[in-house]
Amino acid sequence: MEAESCAASPGTGDEFGRLSTQPEEGEADLVSDGSGQMIARPKGGTVSLTWEDLCVTVADEQHRCISILQGLTGCARPGEVLAIIGPSGCGKSTLLDALAGRLSRKTKRTGQILLNGRKEPLAYGTSVRKSIAWLGCVTQDDVLTWTLTVREAIYLSAQLQLPDSMPLLEKKQRADTTIKEMGLHDAIDTRIGGLGNRGLSNGQKRRLSIYLEISTRPKLLFLDEPRRGLMRRIVSLAEQNKMTVLASIHQPNSEVFELYKSLCLLSLGRTVYFGLSSEATQFFPLNGFPCPSLQNPSDHYLRTINTDFDEDIEQGFGGKQSTEGVIKLLVSSYVSSNTYRQIQ
Ligand SMILES: Nc1ncnc2c1ncn2[C@@H]1O[C@H](COP(=O)(O)OP(=O)(O)OP(=O)(O)O)[C@@H](O)[C@H]1O
Ligand SMILES: [Mg+2]
Repeated sequence: MEAESCAASPGTGDEFGRLSTQPEEGEADLVSDGSGQMIARPKGGTVSLTWEDLCVTVADEQHRCISILQGLTGCARPGEVLAIIGPSGCGKSTLLDALAGRLSRKTKRTGQILLNGRKEPLAYGTSVRKSIAWLGCVTQDDVLTWTLTVREAIYLSAQLQLPDSMPLLEKKQRADTTIKEMGLHDAIDTRIGGLGNRGLSNGQKRRLSIYLEISTRPKLLFLDEPRRGLMRRIVSLAEQNKMTVLASIHQPNSEVFELYKSLCLLSLGRTVYFGLSSEATQFFPLNGFPCPSLQNPSDHYLRTINTDFDEDIEQGFGGKQSTEGVIKLLVSSYVSSNTYRQIQ
């Protein structure tokens, strides 16, 4: 993060929750959000999400602008899971929040976010939420009603979230499928629980939060740190249902890492690499950081760009560099790469 002197504008927040351009006929359905406001729902059943030169800043107590994300550009496509990887504090959750339209009011966002090539409203958690069954979001902290049992939470969610046009029996079947998929049979009648009321384990809560969201088969899904064990299932659901999934992942093991076709690697709020995971294996060696044999590539990438344990890094062609120097080198190499030009 960088601090610079500028007039912070707390309260401007993210205004992404409004229709900034009217969709053209044939590109989107206008549907009511239940409160009388009309919102756009893309036709064609799939969602491509693009962001260009995305910056997020926050004002500190001295009203200085602190930069959290700096000029990120990327895209997420239907049928794929985009893995957002980077060290703690690099901006993974902020990127997901910015794209899902759920940044806090203290922050300010600039840059473009396009849904199927157009500016569309995406404001998870507002009145828009209920009517757009195509948008799902699981945050890093689980938000569950602790007094419900697992079964009650799933049935309630199916009734509230699945479209009104779906018959009740079909909703119940979908809920039963979710219960089977989740691997929570043993805890099905356990109360979720919370502080002072022991119920599900943290892992079980995480699993439940994710399945509640994916049971609606949203066309666009934001997942902040899903459990590794669920990723195979999420990748196959994304493929089968042409879902566009963006998942922040802290430290994937090699088995999980191999599931991702597309990779967004962040450090200090900047894009170090964005593109096919398979091509990242060439990008690092090309810049002097070959992955040691028998090392998981994602561990190697993270170790190379993690300033937490700052120590000079051995470069492939001799010499040592500070981690910040390495990050700068990789960022500028990425910006001048063909991969970057293609994404633009
Ligand atoms: N509203 C805010 N006010 C001040 N600082 C913020 C705010 N939101 C995020 N930050 C800072 O921005 C940086 C990125 O935070 P973010 O939560 O996006 O990181 P992350 O990559 O998701 O980390 P983790 O892997 O630990 O979840 C952090 O240094 C964090 O302290
Ligand atoms: Mg996070």
